[in-house]
Amino acid sequence: MSQFPTHFSPAAVAVAASVVAARWSGTPRVGIILGSGLGQFVEQIDAEVCISYEDVPHFPRSTALAHRGQFVCGNLHGVPVIAMEGRCHAYEGYSFAEITLPVRVMHALGIQTLIVSNASGGMNPRYCKGDIVVIDDHINLMFGGPLAGPHYEAWGARFPDMSSPYDRALSDAALAIARQEDFAAHRGVYVAVKGPNLETRAEYRFLRLLGADVVGMSTVPEVIVAHQLGLRILGLATVTNVCLPDALPRASAHEIVDAAEGAEPKLRRIIRGIINHVARSSASQVAVGA
Ligand code: HPA
Repeated sequence: MSQFPTHFSPAAVAVAASVVAARWSGTPRVGIILGSGLGQFVEQIDAEVCISYEDVPHFPRSTALAHRGQFVCGNLHGVPVIAMEGRCHAYEGYSFAEITLPVRVMHALGIQTLIVSNASGGMNPRYCKGDIVVIDDHINLMFGGPLAGPHYEAWGARFPDMSSPYDRALSDAALAIARQEDFAAHRGVYVAVKGPNLETRAEYRFLRLLGADVVGMSTVPEVIVAHQLGLRILGLATVTNVCLPDALPRASAHEIVDAAEGAEPKLRRIIRGIINHVARSSASQVAVGA
């Protein structure tokens, strides 16, 4: 096997999932991927077990700034969840298969919904630092995708439809929560680039012209895999730096992480509301089925 495996079989996913299941007997309903600077969210979870990625077979280790590298398993407002405190990125040199393996594992453990968050540069001139963007659609400019390679029927369609990967009801609920809680949240298009350098002024101009509102270095590979697997997806981007090409200030990774940390309370409120929404909608499904 090369240093960065380019695909994993269902058997490899099952082995990784069984190691998590051996340490945590819960069945998670929701998976949460915490992006740069958003890891403090895990304090909200009544954690039963934390499992370092190092202990999970085949898992890559996050080398990114402000990414811890563990699963936090437990309950959030009474709903069993599994959260990723840290993720891996293409800019760290990992293959798309490795970046998305945790999504496959969380799916194998039972999640039905995936909440994916990130830090991003805001290119829409209406956005301010610290705003939340509910991802409505995305553009993959990473020059590669996670589904290339051998295909297994169990994972879903070989050529998945991507007309609407982000769940409309969850997005609407997220925007309604922000309105109720009185902070700015927008519906926008996320473009994923490989990084790790930030963009030049000409590149921000180009990405805006393409139709994107925010830019970042993650999320899209995980969303493609989650959508193929049939998960309901909510994507939340935090605007950590404002990227207006005609007045572009210098940006540093530390400022980006600080801004994400500053926006985390908003993310927390949205996720809390979404978890309650998920709990209510499955309670009503049970009632309808009863
Ligand atoms: N560009 C790409 N990724 C990012 C940015 C950006 O400006 N800000 C946070 N992640």
